[in-house]
Amino acid sequence: MRIVFVWSLFFLTTTVFAQNKKPAIKSGPGQQVYEQYCLTCHQADGGGVPNLNPPLKQTDWVQGDKTRLINVILKGLQEPIEINGETFDNVMPAHDFLSDKEIADVLTFIRNSFGNKADAITAEDVKKVRSAK
Ligand code: HEC
Repeated sequence: MRIVFVWSLFFLTTTVFAQNKKPAIKSGPGQQVYEQYCLTCHQADGGGVPNLNPPLKQTDWVQGDKTRLINVILKGLQEPIEINGETFDNVMPAHDFLSDKEIADVLTFIRNSFGNKADAITAEDVKKVRSAK
């Protein structure tokens, strides 16, 4: 009986802790931008939609050259591309209405989500690319 009590206490405290922790890790400003502007096409898990919207998981576009990635958001993309062995040829609309900070936040978010690991993009980086166009 006592053992059961101790175990329930243990589970109770760990679940409470886990719940407390979750929002702090999950919802940064970049995630909010993602949920509002990108999720419908690229999906909550970054997996995309087969033959329609490419995944954002470990792609060269997401983890590679910053200028190229920033330009996808500023100018959109409309050319046949191959992502992880699958070809996509659809329209990604330009999102140049987002602020430099929103773009920096969302790109930093996707570069560190869905199993990706790449360095952050700053509002200053976005500003430079925007003024160069
Ligand atoms: C209307 C649907 C749609 C929305 C909204 C959208 N995308 Fe895309 N995205 C696409 C499509 C389609 C492509 C591929 C375009 C092509 O084939 O040329 C793409 C390509 C990309 C790529 C490069 C390819 C890859 O998979 O790595 C990135 C990065 C990307 N999108 C990020 C974003 C981010 C970040 C947002 C939100 C700010 C966003 N997209 C919003 C449809 C969308």
